[in-house]
Amino acid sequence: MCGIVAYIGSKQALPILIGGLRRLEYRGYDSAGLAVFENGQPCLVKAVGKIDNLSEKLKNQSFDSTFGIAHTRWATHGGVTEPNTHPHTDCTGNIVLAHNGIIENYRELKESLGSNHRYTSETDSEVLAHLIEKEYTGDLRQAVLSALGQVRGTYGLAIMHKDHPGTLVCARMGSPLVIGLGENEYFVASDATPMLAYTKNVIFLEDGEVAEIKRTDMHIVNLKDQQVAKKVSKIEWDEASAQKQGFAHFMLKEIFDQPTVLQDAIRGRFKLADGTAHLGGLNMSEPEMREIKRIVLIACGTASYAAMAGKYMFERLAGIPVEVDVASEFRYRDPIIDNQTLVFGISQSGETADTLAALKEAKRKGAFVRGIVNVVGSTIARETDGGTYIHAGPELAVASTKAFTNMTAILLLYALQFGRLNKLSVATGQRLLAALTEIPEKMKLILQQSDKIKELAEKYKNARDFLFLGRGVNFPVALEGSLKLKEISYIHSEAVPGGEMKHGPIALLSPEFPVFAIMTKNQLYDKMRSNIEEVKARKAPIILIATEGDLGAADLAQDVIYVPPTMELLEPLLNTLPLQLFAYHMAVALGRDVDRPRNLAKSVTVE
Ligand code: M6R
Repeated sequence: MCGIVAYIGSKQALPILIGGLRRLEYRGYDSAGLAVFENGQPCLVKAVGKIDNLSEKLKNQSFDSTFGIAHTRWATHGGVTEPNTHPHTDCTGNIVLAHNGIIENYRELKESLGSNHRYTSETDSEVLAHLIEKEYTGDLRQAVLSALGQVRGTYGLAIMHKDHPGTLVCARMGSPLVIGLGENEYFVASDATPMLAYTKNVIFLEDGEVAEIKRTDMHIVNLKDQQVAKKVSKIEWDEASAQKQGFAHFMLKEIFDQPTVLQDAIRGRFKLADGTAHLGGLNMSEPEMREIKRIVLIACGTASYAAMAGKYMFERLAGIPVEVDVASEFRYRDPIIDNQTLVFGISQSGETADTLAALKEAKRKGAFVRGIVNVVGSTIARETDGGTYIHAGPELAVASTKAFTNMTAILLLYALQFGRLNKLSVATGQRLLAALTEIPEKMKLILQQSDKIKELAEKYKNARDFLFLGRGVNFPVALEGSLKLKEISYIHSEAVPGGEMKHGPIALLSPEFPVFAIMTKNQLYDKMRSNIEEVKARKAPIILIATEGDLGAADLAQDVIYVPPTMELLEPLLNTLPLQLFAYHMAVALGRDVDRPRNLAKSVTVE
């Protein structure tokens, strides 16, 4: 939700800020703005809409400034207008601020500031600029600290002041900020991608920390103004991994990344000879693992569907009961958690506010809390007591794709690790691992069908509704296929388990209501086939995902996409790919903005 970029150094700030905003556009794209110091004055430019609009506005302006802040907005308080676009200023125009998060007590603060302040926006963020103005007596850092002492809510902040043309003040509470260290230059951003081309050395600001950054040095203090010692981390992602690499969209590139990044996820994390996995980051002793009586998987959106696939894996391989909880529901229903419960928070961004809050609640109740996360150094990665990075590389399209398959693979490895400690045989473990190592090549075979799936999208692009059907471990796949389609093509879609259709959803079916069904060869094949016969009888068009060699599939359906065979528990790693490609090509066929669908943002850092 919203992205911040800031630069202070000796390079021209403008290209760094605009380039950085483009990298962070996935975080929100309602409007964007920036401020640079030009001839001793902060100079602001704002535009409603995507970064291209801001760029267009800047086309005929030249700025030599080597210091600036920028922001891309996902609107919370106040409509999508230019005045509501960041950066915001105080009454004097001296203080300029970009804010990510929500100032919960902004109304009280506004009231306490009195009627002397003139506001130009409807945002909570602008109130903070006025509060800093009130507290300012010549020292920007002190003014920010005094103001933050009065604030309730979340913030990632980048602040400049006209009287301090060489000082950038940043602060964090609940909204991530990464500081990149160059030579006599600093980069600040909501994640590390804007700085990958310049530096790999970063410092992750923690909640309650304030950084005062000058060109040649930096001080980080806590909210009591006490110096904090920080560790420099190295980012392993490279610049190329955050680019489209010739693909038309990030989403397509990320779909095609899957064979490679799946290998990155599993490499070195299992022992074929023992038929087991070794995810050392779990940070639990074998006796502690044996004591676990229940596993709770907490996540949102696509990550929650990976969690649902994980439930089948843990229950079947490890015999441990698993609950999957959508994070926003978990914390408000007084969940039953004890010290024999292992809770995994699963998140691509590692910043999802609902997931983070749910994990804190689980920790408070005494559970073992671990993370399965993509973004290195993200809040969930740091707030959990261990866990595993999924190594999917930067995922920049708003629609999550490669994170799903990598999360699912890591859950499988965990299920195997717990399974082998319980009753799972070496032989079964070995068969699963052998099958897992074959997945990347099989993924490539599916991706080769992209053009065929594109033709299907052309055929079905005028459908108003879709029903996705799956059973067992393929039900989460159906849910994921349905979410992908609706979020980027805006076509209404639902997903139900095949066997549930007769209890209501079948009433929807008609020749105008296509059904996308997963009917691969597994223990539920015959049951699923019967469900599809029920669909056929209602004359709804059917697209099937079937196993290569299933000659009978074509008799049932108008269209069939064949996937290579694999072991049942691994099917989500393959069967999801045609659904991702279908959603992608549908969105392209309909002229949608694939990477930045309306109303959405990639990291949802508000509750
Ligand atoms: O970063 P996270 O994995 O925690 O994000 C969770 C969801 O917000 C995310 O999966 C969302 O549903 C995507 N738009 C799905 O494509």
